[in-house]
Amino acid sequence: MNLNKPYFIVFLLFAFIRLQAQERSNIPMVQELLDKMTLDEKIGQLNLLTPGGGVATGSVVSKDVEEKIKAGQVGGLFGVSGPNKVRVAQELAVNNTRLKIPLLFGSDVIHGYKTTFPIPLGISCSWDLELIEEAARIAAVEATADGINWNFSPMVDIARDPRWGRIAEGAGEDPYLGSAVAKAMVRGYQGADLSDPNTMLSCVKHFALYGASQAGRDYHTVDMGKIKMFNQYLPPYKAAVDAGVASVMSSFNDVDGIPATGNKWLLTDLLRDRWGFTGFVVSDYTSLNEMIPHGLGSLQDVSALSLKAGLDMDMVGEGFLSTLKKSVKEGRVMEEEITQACRRVLEAKHKLGLFDNPYRYLDSNRPKRDILTPEHRQFAREIAARSFVLLKNHNTILPIKKNAKVALVGPLADSRKNMLGTWAPTGNPDLAVTVIEGFKKVAPDAIISYAKGANITDDKELAKKVNVFGPRVVIDQRSPEVMIKEAVDATKSSDVVVAVVGEASEMSGESASRTDISIPESQKKLIRALVATGKPVALVLMSGRPLTIAEEYDLPVALLQVWHSGVEAGNAIADVVFGDYNPSGKLTTTWPRNVGQIPIYHSVKNTGRPNPKDRFEKFKSNYLDAPNSPLLPFGHGLSYTHFEYSNLAAEKSEISQNESITINVTVTNKGNFDGEEVVQLYLRDVIRSITPPVRQLKGFKKVFLKKGESQDITLTLKPADLKFYNGALEFVSEPGEFEVFVGTDSNCSLKTLFMLK
Ligand code: BGC
Repeated sequence: MNLNKPYFIVFLLFAFIRLQAQERSNIPMVQELLDKMTLDEKIGQLNLLTPGGGVATGSVVSKDVEEKIKAGQVGGLFGVSGPNKVRVAQELAVNNTRLKIPLLFGSDVIHGYKTTFPIPLGISCSWDLELIEEAARIAAVEATADGINWNFSPMVDIARDPRWGRIAEGAGEDPYLGSAVAKAMVRGYQGADLSDPNTMLSCVKHFALYGASQAGRDYHTVDMGKIKMFNQYLPPYKAAVDAGVASVMSSFNDVDGIPATGNKWLLTDLLRDRWGFTGFVVSDYTSLNEMIPHGLGSLQDVSALSLKAGLDMDMVGEGFLSTLKKSVKEGRVMEEEITQACRRVLEAKHKLGLFDNPYRYLDSNRPKRDILTPEHRQFAREIAARSFVLLKNHNTILPIKKNAKVALVGPLADSRKNMLGTWAPTGNPDLAVTVIEGFKKVAPDAIISYAKGANITDDKELAKKVNVFGPRVVIDQRSPEVMIKEAVDATKSSDVVVAVVGEASEMSGESASRTDISIPESQKKLIRALVATGKPVALVLMSGRPLTIAEEYDLPVALLQVWHSGVEAGNAIADVVFGDYNPSGKLTTTWPRNVGQIPIYHSVKNTGRPNPKDRFEKFKSNYLDAPNSPLLPFGHGLSYTHFEYSNLAAEKSEISQNESITINVTVTNKGNFDGEEVVQLYLRDVIRSITPPVRQLKGFKKVFLKKGESQDITLTLKPADLKFYNGALEFVSEPGEFEVFVGTDSNCSLKTLFMLK
């Protein structure tokens, strides 16, 4: 290295000043505390533990966790809840450690706390940001009432591969919508003042790119270029940071060859230096230790690497606790680096007001008052109905008359345990409303005959795998033939058939990837037999992911996608099936025809050999055995009414850089029901310095229209909506023509233009 001496000294000076600045806190109280702390005490703050089974069996914390807390070796816990239990743990820290530093209490409150809402993928299909923020607000009120002050949510990983089970936990495929949802959730959890005992620290996860796991297999490799990263995958995390998220969770996967948990480019250069994040970074569950099998060295090596990269807290793995002191002694880590991580953890505790009162979240009157209130349950019912997507409605089979004779069949029609969906550890499945209960409540005059009709799956091995958290798939003693016959018999005296089919809740979620995402064969046989009766059939489809349903879609049926919709599932499904609520959900993921089309999403690039006709042509970019188009496009979702679009116009034909432009369109409700429509705007940047997607979502508005009503809708494109990350990763817009498409889904064809000067 050619070292020019004076420059090198100045460089060292700057580096030293920067480090000093990062070590010191702007909060005098935190700085005073840091000044008093020993190296061991600082390392203790970087350790996040879960007592695991101890909570379930009633004791607050298991033995060694208790000892570690008393020894000042724990900065936070998760998996402990209830003001009384949390108080015991908090007292262990406050009463037994030299500096009385309180603990953080974390939890995965992914879609509601005890009042479980639909899975996040379902919620995103409401496209209703106020509703989404309110769901997060209610979740925070309930969780904080139970003593929790830190939430491992929102999960904002863009997911374009429905084989990946965790697609259920996020807002789907699109960075624009995903960013808006991320912001709404952070606002909902954190509120305006984090020291308010109703608000909690939010933790955006899994940073970064976890949704791009190769082949949809969980925890798998991610390999992605920076242009795609910046334009498609990073925006929702950045949006959460811009909304002031207090913490970030690093992901399991590698990013450009280095696991996220030890990736300095990701955790420091991008997150802190470029985006200005000032909170703390926690690892995912043992993701620090998992860098050993990733191939990056020993526990001491990966712990040192991760701390230096910008990781502040180690979840469960205890790599920081067991190796950092040794690394300081050996000169591999500087004490200042530990001080900096500790400062960030202490500042979060300060934001929560825990130093003023470590027990501020521990009011034992609150759970009764704030959790599972009738208002919260009513909200759960409303948000569930708004998450449903009417995929198809052959012969307007839906809605059903409330005095109809209904054959209600299918393995999910009377299944309580599958209603909450994946990642609902704080909810209680026994409180969920089944579909049959909802039907009886909403349509007491309907004559309902029930038959199970099929097992969720007949595959015993699969059943065993998805029953890890209790019985989700119960394989009946009766033969499949007998069950199908029973269901067909039930249709004989009925006007209409409603079949509730799909996935068990644990067929999606973490470590629940599938290579075949169709409806299991046992249920396909039932569906075929039901359709063969000639009765009108409505399929109510439950799943945690888009499914491949080409066969069912071709049948003369109605198809209502209801995800796993939470504690009020049955009531909400009945509300929509019987027409008390007119469905308004829109898909936030593209639904493929078959797994061979995956990954599939609306904002694809054109290629040099496009085939817009969607019919095979030799030497064009297409398949021999399937069209390029998906079965159902992003943004798709029908209503009991229908909407027409007209008069699309841009306010101006030309704008300059940094100018906004409004786009006007008239939407008319042409059907016989009042209803809501999500008006969607897609933009095409026709020519630019890096290849543009054919179209990208850049605006939407959810509007309510009475039957026969017309409304003039205005959507505004802001300067940032025209920008993208160019080859030098600068966020720019480039002069030229923009095409604007507005309509009911991502295939919409109504078009206007404007020029950017
Ligand atoms: C998941 C995270 C979760 C953490 C703690 C991990 O397995 O990936 O999403 O927050 O566990 O429960």
